[in-house]
Amino acid sequence: MKWVRGLHLLAVASLLWSWTFTANGWSNGARWYDTDACLIQAHAGSWLRYGPWLYWYGEDKTRGVPTQAIRCYRSLDGNTWESCGLALEAGTSPIAAESNLERPKVLYHAGTRKFVMWLHREAPDHYGLAEAAVAVADRPEGPFRWLKNFRPFGAMSRDATLFQDSNGRAYFISAARHNLDLHVYRLSSDYLDLEAQVSTLFAGQSREAPVVVEHQGLIYLITSGATYWEANQAMYATAPSLETPAAEWSPLSPLGTETTFQGQGAFAFVDGEHILMGLDRWWGHELGNSRYMILPLQLSAGQARLSYYAQFEKRDEQWHFQRLLPKDGLRIQLGAFHSNRFLRRDSDGKLMQSAKDGAMDSVWTLQQREDGAWALEQEGQYLGAQAQSHALVMMAKREDPATAWDLVPIDKENFGYQLLHRLSGLSLDVQGASGEEGASVGLWKSHDGKHQKWYMVPFEAEPLSSCPHQISGSAGKS
Ligand code: DGJ
Repeated sequence: MKWVRGLHLLAVASLLWSWTFTANGWSNGARWYDTDACLIQAHAGSWLRYGPWLYWYGEDKTRGVPTQAIRCYRSLDGNTWESCGLALEAGTSPIAAESNLERPKVLYHAGTRKFVMWLHREAPDHYGLAEAAVAVADRPEGPFRWLKNFRPFGAMSRDATLFQDSNGRAYFISAARHNLDLHVYRLSSDYLDLEAQVSTLFAGQSREAPVVVEHQGLIYLITSGATYWEANQAMYATAPSLETPAAEWSPLSPLGTETTFQGQGAFAFVDGEHILMGLDRWWGHELGNSRYMILPLQLSAGQARLSYYAQFEKRDEQWHFQRLLPKDGLRIQLGAFHSNRFLRRDSDGKLMQSAKDGAMDSVWTLQQREDGAWALEQEGQYLGAQAQSHALVMMAKREDPATAWDLVPIDKENFGYQLLHRLSGLSLDVQGASGEEGASVGLWKSHDGKHQKWYMVPFEAEPLSSCPHQISGSAGKS
């Protein structure tokens, strides 16, 4: 029995892996590793339940764009993910090799017993092809065989998803007409083709990254705006069915914060009473280092709510989500909204934003001061600034007025903060709103710019062993 052998292997792997899965579970926005200590590469992906296993398919962006490998992971408990290798890879098909593959979604067809993957296919070096692609496999982990790539009924097709309803009918939803419109297509009964286009939604409104979930007889369709790799406000709309004519859908309503917790929707997954949403936090400057979030989606009578929780785990068959409030002794990394780079002190003592987040010099310990303000400690020194200066320095004394910070929440979700330096009244600021690696971080008069907004990621230790199966390639460029 393959499942039994899989269970056994997984139990052994879990023992070896006990350090990844900490008491607080997974931290959204931290690096996530599989049971081989490899960075999980499953961007813009999807989850599929098959037997006792949960499968996770997604883009391997180790080499950035073009993305030519789709990876598969599986989990029994929702906490530990074991690699099941490359589900689809460039070398197996000349077409895939000439492609940039995005947003793989997989359905299982109970009649044909096939696993069917639909993707967005572009050329390696431009986004002009705008095609859908289909691949099929006999087993959940693949290998998936390339079947075809095409423009649905001649229409451009970019960001896309699949949805299977409770009767086994399935739909492909994709961004058309240079991303201006969203098309809904009904799949053929074997899921390998399109039967008909059933509607054009949100015409002219440039909605991307579609995610569909059904709850109590209502379809919720969540989309992002179209701003390349930059996060924007997710919106949702509802209708009784994906075949409902466009005019009868509810208007678009905002979901989450104005940058969707710095994320973009990848998939929704219903697990018993729990509805989860998987999101990508893209690092546009270094796509292979992009992060993930799993957040709970609350759906009720046509209203959707996506709440932010810093950590989650599955325990006793339930998903548990935990908020992160500033507290004494908490070790965090601080990400800037406009760049997703972390606040870091380099070896020369320069305070900067940086994507080099593996080292301890981007980890800060929050310490509560006697005056109620916060100190940001690193190696026994404290982040501060002299009264008349916009420059940050590390200082020796925690109770010095120059090292007192207020963490001012900017949303109701305990996600974003401005960091106000008490002595000067100025705000922690990436100078010139630069998105560049190594750009200076200093103090500036408070304003509403994203380069003064920060989020906290709980610090997670890096694996002790090294990954045996990561594809080679350095931090992928966009
Ligand atoms: C945002 C999309 O949602 C991603 O899948 C990708 O296509 C990028 N745009 C490309 O800029």
